[in-house]
Formats: sequence, C-alpha cells, structure tokens
Amino acid sequence: MADKLKVLVTGGAGYIGSHMVFALLDAGHQPVILDDFSTGHDALIAPNVPVYRGNVGDSDVTDKLFAEHSFDAVMHFAASIIVPESVSNPLKYYLNNTVSTARLIRACVDAGIDKFVFSSTAAVYGNQDAGLIAEDAPCQPENPYGASKLMSEQILRDVAKAHDLSYVILRYFNVAGADAAGRAGQLSKPATHLIKIAVELVTGQRDSMQVFGTDYSTLDGTCIRDYIHVSDLSAAHVAALDYLVAGGASLTANCGYGRGASVREVLASVANVSGSKLAIENAPRRDGDAASLVADSSLLRDRLGWQP
Ligand code: UFG
Repeated sequence: MADKLKVLVTGGAGYIGSHMVFALLDAGHQPVILDDFSTGHDALIAPNVPVYRGNVGDSDVTDKLFAEHSFDAVMHFAASIIVPESVSNPLKYYLNNTVSTARLIRACVDAGIDKFVFSSTAAVYGNQDAGLIAEDAPCQPENPYGASKLMSEQILRDVAKAHDLSYVILRYFNVAGADAAGRAGQLSKPATHLIKIAVELVTGQRDSMQVFGTDYSTLDGTCIRDYIHVSDLSAAHVAALDYLVAGGASLTANCGYGRGASVREVLASVANVSGSKLAIENAPRRDGDAASLVADSSLLRDRLGWQP
C-alpha cells in the first residue's frame, strides 16, 4: 500500500464519493471533499474530513482549494448521473459533466497534480452485442449522460499526453449497496435506480413500480445489468491509486463483476429477501436504455489486482 496520501474527492458528499472517503480513511489516506451539495448530503460526510462547498468547474473554488492543500491525487466523482434526465436535459449533462471536468483537469494541471482517477460509466458503450463488454468495444453511447462521460474521458487522455498527468478511468457498471458498517448509503430523493426503488416498494414507501421494457432480446425480455457493490467499487479506486503511485501507466478499466442480472431477476431477489410480493406494472421501454451491459473486468483484476 502507498504511504499516507492526500486525495481530493470531488462529489465526496454523494453516494459513491462518500463511500470512497471512508475507503480512503480505512486505507490510511487523507481525503478532502469538494461538493456543491446539489445532490450531496451532510449526513454522508465522514467526521473530521475537510469539506469545501462549491462546483468543480468554479476556478475560484479550485484555486482556493489547491492553494490550501497539496494533493497527491484527485478522484473525480462529482457529476449528474440520471440517464433519463440526460435525455430530457442534455445541456445540464454536457455543462455539469464535460465542461466542469475540463475545468477541473485544467486546475489540476496548473496546480501540478499528476494523478487523476475518473468516474466513468458503462453508459459510454451503448448497445453492444450480447456478452461481456471489454474496454476496446466500440463506444456508442445511447444517451447524453454516456456521451458527456465519454467526452470527459477523451479530454483526460489528450491532456495526459500533453502534460505530466497519469490517470485511471474506471467505467462503472451499475453501482448498488451501502457501507457494511452503516456509515454511508444511497440517499437520492426521489429514488431513480432500480434497486432503491424496489426496496422503497417493499418498505412501504411507494405503492407500485414499473418494469421499463419487457420486449428486449434478453432471456426474460427485460434489461440486463452488472450490479457491483459500492464498497467493491471503492476498493477498485484504492487499487487505482496504489497503481498510479507505483508509476503505473494510464489506463481505462471496466468496473463490474462480469455477471448480469435482468430487471426481473433483481426484483425476484428483492421479493425473496424481503418476503414480500412486489406490486409491479409492465411499462414501455425507457428512453436511452441499452438492452444488456455486463463487464469484462479482467483488466481491472489483472492489472490492479482487484478482487471483488
Ligand atoms: N428500471 C425499471 N424500473 C425502475 C427503474 C429502473 O425497470 O423503476 C430498469 C431500467 O429501465 C434499466 C434497469 O432497471 O433497465 C437499471 O436501471 P437504473 O436506472 O437502476 O440504472 P441504469 O442502468 O439506467 O444506469 C446506471 C447508472 C448509470 C450507469 C449505468 C451503467 O445510473 O450511471 O447504470 O450501466 F451509467
């Protein structure tokens, strides 16, 4: 493991970022949070961690932050992440994800920060033929969310060629779950992701839910996703940090288990665990959904030694 590192975690008051802050603390590192609290929560902030309130694209904020701290690395989580919203409001995604990321990367280059871990997404792949998706699959995002992240990846690659900057881009598949010690979790309101919606249903916080699309060319007609636990995902970031500190070359890696579950399988599992019968309605396909997204994660396992 690397020595104690000072790491900026953007979006550190959000769902994945907050788990990351705890994972860094657990690994003996020193995280600092930057979050604009548009979707972040005070309740998710780890005790005694410095917090800066502001947008990653705001140079007044990053100038102050980089003047006050000397960071070994930046982990950039802050982003808008709701696929259907990106379809109805694409500019929000290009501005908040792509433009703000470019500004943050510029601030890092100016401050001499040479390690960057970027939260990307399986949504960059779009629809692929069935089977496991490897990193060299063609990227053809189905929605502006995926496109906004793919553009950010490209900016990072170009800047890394021109400046002293190494990166690990992690393309997350569907992140789920919560810290086993109960220190953080998913507080999004309203819930937008499948598992949280299903759990709200069985805990009486909603009356029904819909299955979006039952006519996909999958085994049961519903979409297939690779659900990865948020703590395994955080561990992948710690491994990425160790890799960069050890002088590892920039790389882009999928982050998933390599095991798909359909929407119906997820709902059956929630029903099974909770012992409840779910009130489910079949509904038309949701805009921007790919039929199947399952990771080939051998690169992450082989190069970073990650074991979920
Ligand atoms: N779904 C339903 N009913 C619901 C909610 C979701 O049927 O009430 C379906 C969706 O249509 C989709 C699947 O459940 O087929 C998963 O949907 P989520 O909204 O939970 O997640 P997405 O796959 O749309 O997107 C998530 C993240 C993205 C990431 C993507 C990568 O939000 O950031 O996974 O696979 F890019």
